[in-house]
Amino acid sequence: WYEGVQDSRGMPWRKPYDHSWDMEHKAQRAYEVWVSEIMLQQTQVATVIPYYNRWIERFPTIADLAASDIDTVNGLWKGLGYYSRAARLLSGAQKAVKEFKGRLPDNAKDMESNIPGIGRYSAGAICSIAYNECVPVLDGNVHRLLSRVLALHAPPKAKQTLDILWAGASAFVKDADRPGDLNQALIELGATVCKVRDPSCDVCPLQRSCAAYVAASRRVGEPRGNS
Ligand code: ADE
Repeated sequence: WYEGVQDSRGMPWRKPYDHSWDMEHKAQRAYEVWVSEIMLQQTQVATVIPYYNRWIERFPTIADLAASDIDTVNGLWKGLGYYSRAARLLSGAQKAVKEFKGRLPDNAKDMESNIPGIGRYSAGAICSIAYNECVPVLDGNVHRLLSRVLALHAPPKAKQTLDILWAGASAFVKDADRPGDLNQALIELGATVCKVRDPSCDVCPLQRSCAAYVAASRRVGEPRGNS
């Protein structure tokens, strides 16, 4: 069901990916996805796109970024807000060059523990998309989507809730052929279909496995989506 996610919404960081690429090629993709994920942390897709394009034009590789300085990166960040993100990209790039031969670590665990500003979500996004690792993502969108799929009525930020949702996200991505596409499709579904209000359940590919949908259908007395 997640076919075609690469083409959606004209995002320049979504490009074809070939599992057989060598490590250098994959690490280049990891750099690009890292930049996009950090920009997307507090900023909407449409705003990020021109900033992303200018950034990649100015710093095509992680080595180009590492060789830059804080004034230059802040200049490129101007208007995006939360400037600490730019500083973290710069220091992360410098660390990758110094300690990891100019490549972001090739797995989520090492990436999260070694690169400043990369938490579990970002490491999961970057490593699934760029390194084809079957690791989960849980952002606000996926949190809402999975809470509905599992019909989880629990305090959203409680550790136990988050553990359940991370486990749910892991179950989705486990054994996926294209974990990066799968994760991005979950993010995309949360953003465009499983919206906060008025979710578009009629077009949702997960309708039949969604416990909240099934429960709501029962309440309405209309046995739909459960066949
Ligand atoms: N928001 C954060 N990461 C994203 C991605 N890879 N695709 C779409 N929206 C996102």
